Amino acid sequence: MEKLLHNQVAFVTGAGSGIGRAVAIKLAQNGGKIALVDLHKENVEEVKKQIEEIGSEALVLEANVSQPTEVKNCYQKTIDQWGRLDVVFANAGINGEVTPIEDMEPKDWDLTKFILTERNRFYNRDGVPPVPVIKEKRTGSRTSLGERENRPC
Ligand SMILES: NC(=O)c1ccc[n+]([C@@H]2O[C@H](COP(=O)([O-])OP(=O)(O)OC[C@H]3O[C@@H](n4cnc5c(N)ncnc54)[C@H](O)[C@@H]3O)[C@@H](O)[C@H]2O)c1
Repeated sequence: MEKLLHNQVAFVTGAGSGIGRAVAIKLAQNGGKIALVDLHKENVEEVKKQIEEIGSEALVLEANVSQPTEVKNCYQKTIDQWGRLDVVFANAGINGEVTPIEDMEPKDWDLTKFILTERNRFYNRDGVPPVPVIKEKRTGSRTSLGERENRPC
């Protein structure tokens, strides 16, 4: 039986650890080819191996998702590699300082908010690569962790 994501391409940020890693592997198990984006490419080398063992393909991409130019380059490399983009899972981010709230420094809040806000703003704006690419096909989805919904395009 053909897999749900047969021949489709997914772009997963923060794919080197935790939720992003688990989602990347699950999408690959369902037949997806996965662009693995992370701050440090060493984080995703192992995930690429796991995906290849499953029998799918993966592309290792290093980027800081709070820097639009770096993310745009990653989208371009993904499209150059596979010629399409079907799913964006905007997951990369930091959980911030884990400490009692009374000990939390304003700078810790600021960094966490900056990364999460920039990330969501960037992935959901028209004119930014994944939105027009997915809209043109009239199918696919983009999900930003922390938003309340998965947006079909
Ligand atoms: N784990 C939780 O309980 C929880 C709860 C609420 C929200 N979240 C959010 O879910 C997402 C994933 O959480 P997790 O627990 O799997 O995190 P994690 O720390 O295990 O993994 C995050 C990954 O994102 C990468 N990353 C961090 N900043 C980046 C950046 N600027 N550019 C590119 N890559 C970057 C890291 O290198 C890491 O591989 C985060 O955005 C987090 O804020 C997590």
